[in-house]
Amino acid sequence: MGKPFEAVRISEHVYWVGAIDWAIRDFHGYSTNRGSTYNAFLIMADKITLVDTVKAPFRQELMSRIASVVDPGEISVLISDHSEMDHTGCLTDVVAEIRPDEIYASTMGAKAIEKHFHAGLPITPVKDGERLSLGNMNLTFLETRMLHWPDSMFSYLEEEQVLFAQDAFGMHLASAARFDDEIEDHVLDFESAKYYANILMPFSSLVTKLLARVKELDLPIKLVAPDHGPIRRKGIAKIMELYAQWAESKPTMKAVVAYDTMWNSTSKMALAIADGLTAGGAIPTVLPIRSSHRSDLATEVLDAGALLVGSPTINGQMFPTLADALTYLKALRPLNLIGAAFGSYGWSGEAVGYVNDVLTEMKIELVSEGFKVNYVPDEAALNECRALGGLVAEQLKRVVGS
Ligand code: FEO
Repeated sequence: MGKPFEAVRISEHVYWVGAIDWAIRDFHGYSTNRGSTYNAFLIMADKITLVDTVKAPFRQELMSRIASVVDPGEISVLISDHSEMDHTGCLTDVVAEIRPDEIYASTMGAKAIEKHFHAGLPITPVKDGERLSLGNMNLTFLETRMLHWPDSMFSYLEEEQVLFAQDAFGMHLASAARFDDEIEDHVLDFESAKYYANILMPFSSLVTKLLARVKELDLPIKLVAPDHGPIRRKGIAKIMELYAQWAESKPTMKAVVAYDTMWNSTSKMALAIADGLTAGGAIPTVLPIRSSHRSDLATEVLDAGALLVGSPTINGQMFPTLADALTYLKALRPLNLIGAAFGSYGWSGEAVGYVNDVLTEMKIELVSEGFKVNYVPDEAALNECRALGGLVAEQLKRVVGS
């Protein structure tokens, strides 16, 4: 039997030996419409080294790609840059199979791997800035705590200027292409933004600090090799600049209008608000939340200046789809937003108040006490919705200009 999976050489001594997950559409609650990859890298140094592994069901694909370059038993060193199971799910089986002489992770990574697998793996913790000789080549480790787990770290291969960046600078994108310059820019930009919004947005202040540190270290970088999606060789400066912008979260004239509706009253309000936003010079994006995934809401909010949320009242509560989306979005901690709530009701109308509470907890500056309509909006009520859109547009000009 031949080897069904081949490694891809990405620099003189480094090979991509990861797995392509064409089928995944839900990555722990994040919609992955284009699938994903779990990247792992083989360094053919004097001490042959494997950087990261893959999600458990893809172990044979990993081993097959390694075997297309070298007998896996020849691997001496195993590095785990991140302990989340999409990169460690098969770690204990891989260790049993290849029996490496040395295994390294960050201090927090060594603890996390033990707490995941309870396998007593002989992992040597490495410190921030520590250098590891692979014989003729050297790796340096950079801790990147909370980007996006406490254990996360980068490994930098000095001789070939490769930055192994685990989740950072990655994206969920299944592709036969291994490099960024082989994929259309609009796909890279969208999937990078979606990844940042859903994985890294809560840690934007740390992203800013990390970028400053990378700049200060002034490492020559030829390749950024993340654990998901394509390897960056053309767009390194661009992705660093995009991360800096997303981390800064400067408000824009974009206003996201997210709503659900029972009998089309709240949807009529949403559309009238969008009219008012447009007339006032803002750029609305309207998301019917029942048919828009929560992770797409997060992506839209990433470069917005305003968030307006519309919920009908159902049995005294916010509509459950909005509760889901707002719970998810609140945890992602988007910055620098203004906002407002709206919605229709039959007899009590609590939803607008509940939405206001969540927006306030999210530190979103409310520009109105919220607008609710009993049963079905008439033309006067729709004009008030247009006025609310106009008010948000005016306030956006204030915050964007400030
Ligand atoms: Fe790709 Fe945080 O794991």
